[in-house]
Amino acid sequence: MRLRGKVALVTGGARGIGAAIAEVFAQEGAKVAIGDILTMEGEATAKAIGRSGGEAIFLHLDVTDEESWKRGVKAVVAELGGLDILVNNAGIGMRAGLEEVSREEWQSTLDVNSKGPYLGTKHAAPEMAQRGGGSIVNISSIAAMVGGDASVAYRASKGALRSLTKAMAIRYASQGIRVNSIHPGDVITPMSEPYLADSRRLRERIALVPLGRLGRPRDIAYLALYLASDEASYVTGIEIVIDGGRTAQ
Ligand SMILES: NC(=O)c1ccc[n+]([C@@H]2O[C@H](COP(=O)([O-])OP(=O)(O)OC[C@H]3O[C@@H](n4cnc5c(N)ncnc54)[C@H](O)[C@@H]3O)[C@@H](O)[C@H]2O)c1
Repeated sequence: MRLRGKVALVTGGARGIGAAIAEVFAQEGAKVAIGDILTMEGEATAKAIGRSGGEAIFLHLDVTDEESWKRGVKAVVAELGGLDILVNNAGIGMRAGLEEVSREEWQSTLDVNSKGPYLGTKHAAPEMAQRGGGSIVNISSIAAMVGGDASVAYRASKGALRSLTKAMAIRYASQGIRVNSIHPGDVITPMSEPYLADSRRLRERIALVPLGRLGRPRDIAYLALYLASDEASYVTGIEIVIDGGRTAQ
C-alpha cells in the first residue's frame, strides 16, 4: 500500500504502459483516474481494476486540448477528492525519418507527446499544491537521448519532454511538487507490436539489450510507482533510463 490515500491521474491509461501503471497504482492503494481518448478500452481497464479490488474511473481526456484538461482535472477532484499524482504517459509513435515526415505528422506528434504533458502539468499542479505537494511522472523514451534515422518527430517530442521535466521540477519545487522523467527502451505494447510483429526485427531489437529481453509494461509501472510514492520525496528533476542496459553500452 505504497500509495494509500493518494489520487492519481494516468493519461493514456486505457492500454499498454499506462494501463499497467493504473493497475499497479490501484493495487498499491491509490484511487486512479484513467484519462484517454479510447473510451471502450479505458472503461474496460477501469472495470478490470475494480474487479481486482482497486478503485478506478475512466474519463475521456484528449491531452492536446486545454479545455479537455480543465474538465478532466475538475472531474478527478470532484469524483476522487483531490489530485496527488499525474502520470503524463499518453503518447503516439511516428516512425518517419527527416525527409519523409510531413508537417502534419510533425505537429501531431509534438502536440500529443510534449504539449499534452505541458498542458496537463499546468492544470494539475494547482490542485496538487492545495494538498501540500505531489508527484508528476513524465513518460519520455530513450529516443530523447540517442539519435537514429527513423522517428525524427518522436525523438524531438520526447527530447522536449525531457527538458520540460527539468523546467517543471524547478518551477514547482517550492510547492512540494516533484517532476521526473522515465525513459524506456522497447516495451511490448499495442504501440510497438505492429513493428515488432516481424520476427527478424524482434530478434534484432532483443539483440541490442544486454539483459536479453524487451521491456514489459509492468517494468515501467514499478519505476513509476517509486517516483509517485513518498519514498521518492527527495527526488526531483531527474531522468531514469529503463532499457535492460541497451544505452549503457
Ligand atoms: N512501447 C514502447 O516501446 C515505448 C518505449 C518508450 C516510450 N514509450 C512511451 O510510453 C507511453 C505509452 O506508450 P505505449 O507503448 O503503452 O503505447 P499505446 O499506444 O499502447 O498507449 C498509448 C495510449 O495513449 C493514448 N493516447 C494517444 N493520444 C492521446 C490523446 N491525444 N489523449 C489522450 N490519450 C491519448 C492512446 O489512446 C493509448 O491508450 C508513450 O508516451 C510512449 O511514447 C513507449
